[in-house]
Amino acid sequence: MSPHSSENLRAQFPGMWNLDGSPWRYLDTAATAQKPQAVINATVRAMGVNYATVHRGVYARSAEMTLGFEAARRRVAAFIGAHEDEVVFTRGATEGINLVANTWGQANLQAGDRILISTLEHHSNIVPWQLLRERTGVAIDVCPLTADGSIDLDAAQAMLTPAHKLVAFSHVSNVLGSVLHVEHCARLAHAVGAKLLIDGCQAAPRIKLDMAALGCDFYVFSAHKLYGPTGIGVLWARAEILAGMPPWHGGGAMIDTVTFEKTTFASGPQRFEAGTPMIIEAIGLAAAIEWLDAIGLDVAQQHERKLASRLREELMRRNDVTLFGPADSIGITSFALVGVHPHDLGTILDEEGVAIRAGHHCAQPLMAHLGVSATARASFGLYNDETDIEALMNGIERTRRIFAL
Ligand SMILES: Cc1ncc(COP(=O)(O)O)c(C=O)c1O
Repeated sequence: MSPHSSENLRAQFPGMWNLDGSPWRYLDTAATAQKPQAVINATVRAMGVNYATVHRGVYARSAEMTLGFEAARRRVAAFIGAHEDEVVFTRGATEGINLVANTWGQANLQAGDRILISTLEHHSNIVPWQLLRERTGVAIDVCPLTADGSIDLDAAQAMLTPAHKLVAFSHVSNVLGSVLHVEHCARLAHAVGAKLLIDGCQAAPRIKLDMAALGCDFYVFSAHKLYGPTGIGVLWARAEILAGMPPWHGGGAMIDTVTFEKTTFASGPQRFEAGTPMIIEAIGLAAAIEWLDAIGLDVAQQHERKLASRLREELMRRNDVTLFGPADSIGITSFALVGVHPHDLGTILDEEGVAIRAGHHCAQPLMAHLGVSATARASFGLYNDETDIEALMNGIERTRRIFAL
């Protein structure tokens, strides 16, 4: 059996099993990924025998923890093809976008300027810009989607003007699994002098990232969707942009000198990391990256694309299912069972030991565009296999019987 067979992979995830030893059919990885034992072990060690604060301690354990913490930053940098001085630890993607809005956005945008987002954005890539609009008077435009649910870059090109200072798009839709051509998008944004922010929450676990090649200016993602812990994420910003960004949260660790008259600030990522950092979480994130890198993002992507496409085939065989999103989804399948609310479907599937997501997926404007209030969503991780799809299809059949459709 290959070390990366789905059986072997599932065995590494304590969260993928029920108490009676049967497999749990977890199909909600787009919300959050289960954690491999390697990540759990790394966080337990960091919280136990290795635990100490970072940066300030004069004793050996703290110095070692500081080395581990900064090594985690280098690990992240290598994972995304960036320099460590460009990697800011945040609480997650949401905080990363808010950080950009509250620092770069607040300092650089004003009434008359415009931001371009898209119809498929997660609320965390909509609301921070609306809050910024309230403070600065900046205008927000919304780029439409193609028929199959990708961001329409021809439309984006037609909409962009020199008034646009920022384009903020998702790399991968958390509802549809459609993938943005980031390099092309960067050329379009830069052609009018706009910066490009990419929400990479759903891309980081599936696509090998290289910041230099992508050409964007800001990139955010969350560790918990990448088989790592909650409570930590990454904001990558181009070095020269980061250098010009004013601080956001004030406190310890982000300063150079403090007097009652005047404070000067640290340079680099530390300027944006006020307070004791997420030490355990950073170590856990580095362990997750190591684990995922050992398998390979190409393997992850191929595996999840295959499962999404297999599920799509199964769903298309039925005449009572509406499918959303492109045929080549990268691992996320949204659908509706005609006559059954997604919440009812989710509840009945749960009785069968199958966990899907039902709801608006923090993308209410996209739901309005699709003409629904909610969808059912199955999303895959490295630990899933075809038996999960079988269990889901059996559950759908049972739901149909219960509803006597
Ligand atoms: C595309 C996308 N953007 C942003 C987020 C927000 O991530 P977090 O809640 O980890 O900050 C999510 C999480 O669901 C997401 O899928």
